Amino acid sequence: MTESTLPRHIAIVMDGNGRWARQRFLPRMAGHQSGVEAARRIVKCCAKKNIKVLSLFAFSRENWRRPDQEVGYLMQLFLKSLEREVGMLHENNIQLRFIGDRQNFNPKLCDKIFEVENLTRANSGMILIMAMDYGGQWDICQATRQLAVQVERGELSSAAITPDHITSKLSFADLPDPDLFIRTSGELRLSNFMLWQLAYAELYFTNTLWPDFDEQALEAALSHFAGRERRFGQSSSDKPPLLGE
Ligand code: FPP
Repeated sequence: MTESTLPRHIAIVMDGNGRWARQRFLPRMAGHQSGVEAARRIVKCCAKKNIKVLSLFAFSRENWRRPDQEVGYLMQLFLKSLEREVGMLHENNIQLRFIGDRQNFNPKLCDKIFEVENLTRANSGMILIMAMDYGGQWDICQATRQLAVQVERGELSSAAITPDHITSKLSFADLPDPDLFIRTSGELRLSNFMLWQLAYAELYFTNTLWPDFDEQALEAALSHFAGRERRFGQSSSDKPPLLGE
């Protein structure tokens, strides 16, 4: 696969940790633990392939509805994973960013997120976006609120609002939108992930459960992407160059 047929931005809904554990008669937590290992593998693979941006949906706004014990375990796991992986991420020149509403995380996790973002801010390699307490509707809503404030202040007229205005206020407005969306575990849903930014993404669904998602599974998704013709609403003869570079 050549550089020009690779997606610039891959967004992944990592699904199936619970089913992976159930198939092995293990507690759900063991599935999440293996899910972290899979995430580690895929981060390294994508960085090696010079993917510019990788986004992982680690915790949705809806995930707060899970039993308290599981939510508590996941928060601990996120904290431990950050503590453990920050060195690897920094050594690999990866910049880590978090998107989502941070208000509901405990202070220790918030401090760690802040620390890791600061440490890796100047890294020029792959950008890893961790979506936590994130939802696509939440993102559009917070962008709308920012524009409404501008309208209230008389800085912007409501009639002048374009999609570009909304885009400019979304999380990661400075980065390209995902070209490839991957969801594991056979579910055919976006589940409120990056709704606005996925408008033109290629969608790839696989039955593989997230803890089993490995380099080979990623290759299969990339081959699927390389074989797609992306038209952005135009006819096949007048479409822009694949990745515009
Ligand atoms: C998806 O499986 C799991 C989650 C959304 C929880 C968090 C994700 C991980 C622990 C993996 C990677 C973590 C990091 C820090 C990068 P599920 O519980 O929805 O599985 P099920 O649908 O089979 O029950």
